[in-house]
Amino acid sequence: MPPLKTRFGALALATVFLPLQSLATPIDSYDYIIVGAGTSGLLLANRLTEDANLNVAVIDPGADERNNTNVVNPLAWLGLSGTPVDWNYSSVPQEYIGGRVLPYDAGKGIGGTSLINGMTYIRGDQAQFDSWEDLNPGSGWNWDTMLQYYKKAERFFPPSSWQEAVGALYEEEYHGSSGEIDVGFSPVLLNGSFYGDAKTAWANLGQSLDKDVNSGHTAGFDVWPQTLNPIDNTRCDSATAFYWPVQDRPNLTLINGTVSRILWKNYTGSTPEASGVEYVMPNGQNKTVKAAKEVILSAGALRTPLILELSGIGNPSILEELGIETVVDLPGVGENMIDQPNMALSYSTNTTFPGYAPYATFVNATSLFGDGFKRVSDVTKLLLPHWARQISKETNRALNASAVEQLLRVQHDLIFEKDVTIAEILSTASGTGAFSAYWGTLPFSRGSVHLNSTDDINTPKINPRFMAIDFDMIVQIAIGRLAATFWDTSPISTSFEAVPQGIPSPDASWNQWKNFTDSTMISNAHPIGTAAMLPRKLGGVVDPQLRVYDTKNVRVVDASVIPLQISGHLTATLYAIAERAAAEFIAPARDAV
Ligand SMILES: Cc1cc2nc3c(=O)[nH]c(=O)nc-3n(C[C@H](O)[C@H](O)[C@H](O)COP(=O)(O)OP(=O)(O)OC[C@H]3O[C@@H](n4cnc5c(N)ncnc54)[C@H](O)[C@@H]3O)c2cc1C
Ligand SMILES: *[C@@H]1O[C@H](CO)[C@@H](O)[C@H](O)[C@H]1NC(C)=O
Ligand SMILES: *[C@@H]1O[C@H](CO)[C@@H](O)[C@H](O)[C@H]1NC(C)=O
Ligand SMILES: *[C@@H]1O[C@H](CO)[C@@H](O)[C@H](O)[C@H]1NC(C)=O
Ligand SMILES: *[C@@H]1O[C@H](CO)[C@@H](O)[C@H](O)[C@H]1NC(C)=O
Ligand SMILES: *[C@@H]1O[C@H](CO)[C@@H](O)[C@H](O)[C@H]1NC(C)=O
Ligand SMILES: *[C@@H]1O[C@H](CO)[C@@H](O)[C@H](O)[C@H]1NC(C)=O
Ligand SMILES: *[C@@H]1O[C@H](CO)[C@@H](O)[C@H](O)[C@H]1NC(C)=O
Ligand SMILES: *[C@@H]1O[C@H](CO)[C@@H](O)[C@H](O)[C@H]1NC(C)=O
Ligand SMILES: *[C@@H]1O[C@H](CO)[C@@H](O)[C@H](O)[C@H]1NC(C)=O
Ligand SMILES: *[C@@H]1O[C@H](CO)[C@@H](O)[C@H](O)[C@H]1NC(C)=O
Ligand SMILES: *[C@@H]1O[C@H](CO)[C@@H](O)[C@H](O)[C@H]1NC(C)=O
Ligand SMILES: *[C@@H]1O[C@H](CO)[C@@H](O)[C@H](O)[C@H]1NC(C)=O
Repeated sequence: MPPLKTRFGALALATVFLPLQSLATPIDSYDYIIVGAGTSGLLLANRLTEDANLNVAVIDPGADERNNTNVVNPLAWLGLSGTPVDWNYSSVPQEYIGGRVLPYDAGKGIGGTSLINGMTYIRGDQAQFDSWEDLNPGSGWNWDTMLQYYKKAERFFPPSSWQEAVGALYEEEYHGSSGEIDVGFSPVLLNGSFYGDAKTAWANLGQSLDKDVNSGHTAGFDVWPQTLNPIDNTRCDSATAFYWPVQDRPNLTLINGTVSRILWKNYTGSTPEASGVEYVMPNGQNKTVKAAKEVILSAGALRTPLILELSGIGNPSILEELGIETVVDLPGVGENMIDQPNMALSYSTNTTFPGYAPYATFVNATSLFGDGFKRVSDVTKLLLPHWARQISKETNRALNASAVEQLLRVQHDLIFEKDVTIAEILSTASGTGAFSAYWGTLPFSRGSVHLNSTDDINTPKINPRFMAIDFDMIVQIAIGRLAATFWDTSPISTSFEAVPQGIPSPDASWNQWKNFTDSTMISNAHPIGTAAMLPRKLGGVVDPQLRVYDTKNVRVVDASVIPLQISGHLTATLYAIAERAAAEFIAPARDAV
């Protein structure tokens, strides 16, 4: 709680602002401006206005989606792609997979991408979060800290006994019960023999049951929980959890608009300080709004770099080409992007499966490479400097090779020394079909997201550079073979055709698998790292308190800051990151008024 003196001072201030705000007309100054009412931004908005003597504005051009049945119904989310609640971006042609242009979904609406995602709630491996602290020494970014905040945000619904019987398992110590994000198992979880058969088939492939995929150890087979309310079977998105219940707070304002750039105070000779932002209103006109304390970017990994660049923060040679004056020379902006390559195998069967089967298997390098493990580890280790030079070159030296090599070494160490998982395989059945979706969780390729032109702030130039590092293809094919082998393993094999049309068999040639991969892979929609939390000399954009280097009062709190991929899905981790930012970095500042 802030000292009494501060509270009184700000209360007086509040009475001045209250009448204005009750008219719901945006005033022109707030303490904090949060750009993006998405997954991360709305948690922040909620926490900062909890007991604060603070005025917070959140700016987003999206709509209220509470009546969108495809958003609310957890089984309908696949129907949201390409609808008005999706920004519906595209990648640039992907040169390493035959020049294909890939669709990129991102949520547009109050709630951001949490409105359209698959609701999978999976955190990742302990060592992956501990590596954030290795890269940012003394920062406290590690699994233990994250666990505290995962639990803070979470309202976990323990499974019923019938759900437990079909695999809904958990360990209580890893879950929170008094947060706002509902986490539970689907109330229409698949009953019947498929669960037992899948579990046995995976065990026959060396992948035993994981009692709680959210315990910091993902290896093995599990049934995962989702960000949903299992009582009424509705999606729990960021707006449902963090915004709509507090929308009437007098000090929280939602502004409809698209932010183009940060406005600066006269910074000549000193550290640049944001004075506010400029945004485009729905009628197309520009408007500015002041930030008395901070501007916080939560526009997502595909949009935050664009706002930084248009504000003069980034790689001077990219900015110059766009005709933007450099305010902060920060070549990591928009670089370091890591996404995962997603692929699917579809099977048909004569059995009917009523219900939803969220089954995942996470596989480590020991399992994936078997006898070849040591050789793969040694050879890839020798290749790291070569890969780092290639990546550096692809960034036009925005990232230097020795910096990239350090990051790749940390990743190699996680995979080959610290036993984190490198593959996720979903194997599921529904109706009269069944499929696997699979991806490498820790690709070595690095991509980028940049502003394409100063007058198109809504179209990011997205280049994930999938398969640029050829080892990623080796991993993806090894995973594909394992995913296909599952359907051919007893006792699952009895209900499914061994090799469906259009899918290579497990022992099909390398060329067949490569062709299949090149022609069918898409984005796993997990882009991260485009404003990475890393030391500046490693290409970092934000410091461990998520402040943009060389700025006084600009932070990034969204998927852009995650420095390395995780064996998880991102929202669980994003809520925890935003919790920590609100509790430890942004909130203390409010006591220092
Ligand atoms: C189809 C799909 C399925 C997924 N499935 C899962 C899953 O099952 N489980 C999981 O954990 N993760 C999943 N993910 C990933 C996860 O949902 C995202 O990583 C996460 O929601 C991103 O959160 P964020 O806060 O970084 O950004 P977002 O939630 O995308 O928020 C960004 C917000 O900023 C707004 N914005 C953008 N630009 C501007 C601007 N210039 N001015 C103002 N506002 C702006 C946007 O409208 C949006 O509301 C999925 C993603 C997709 C696309
Ligand atoms: C902000 O809202 C909270 C919750 O309603 C309230 O306790 C606080 O007094 C408000 N502060 C201001 C400045 O309005
Ligand atoms: C913001 O404006 C757009 C365009 O007019 C509109 O479709 C949307 O519903 C508005 N959002 C909110 C939350 O009112
Ligand atoms: C949602 O539906 C309710 C009930 O029909 C209605 O009152 C409300 O205005 C709708 N909200 C939006 C944003 O369409
Ligand atoms: C979404 O983008 C694709 C290109 O990737 C395009 O073909 C499609 O028309 C777009 N959908 C909408 C609704 O704009
Ligand atoms: C699964 O079976 C149990 C009884 O064994 C029943 O209570 C439950 O409703 C069933 N669930 C579904 C989704 O059919
Ligand atoms: C790798 O995964 C397998 C299967 O889940 C597990 O048995 C093994 O302990 C893990 N670690 C190593 C080093 O093999
Ligand atoms: C900005 O500050 C510098 C140094 O303090 C001063 O010389 C300059 O005139 C100022 N510029 C403006 C536009 O105020
Ligand atoms: C809004 O401001 C931008 C500069 O950030 C400018 O390019 C654009 O023309 C302005 N638009 C309008 C409608 O004034
Ligand atoms: C489904 O049934 C048809 C007709 O009986 C049979 O030809 C086919 O092989 C069966 N498919 C599977 C996957 O068992
Ligand atoms: C390259 O990165 C390393 C960090 O690994 C740093 O020490 C070095 O100064 C950087 N070199 C240049 C030219 O930026
Ligand atoms: C980038 O701008 C160029 C030239 O204006 C245009 O041809 C291209 O389609 C744009 N790319 C994207 C991703 O919008
Ligand atoms: C990939 O396979 C398709 C048929 O599935 C074939 O038409 C195409 O030529 C193959 N491409 C390559 C590069 O082998």
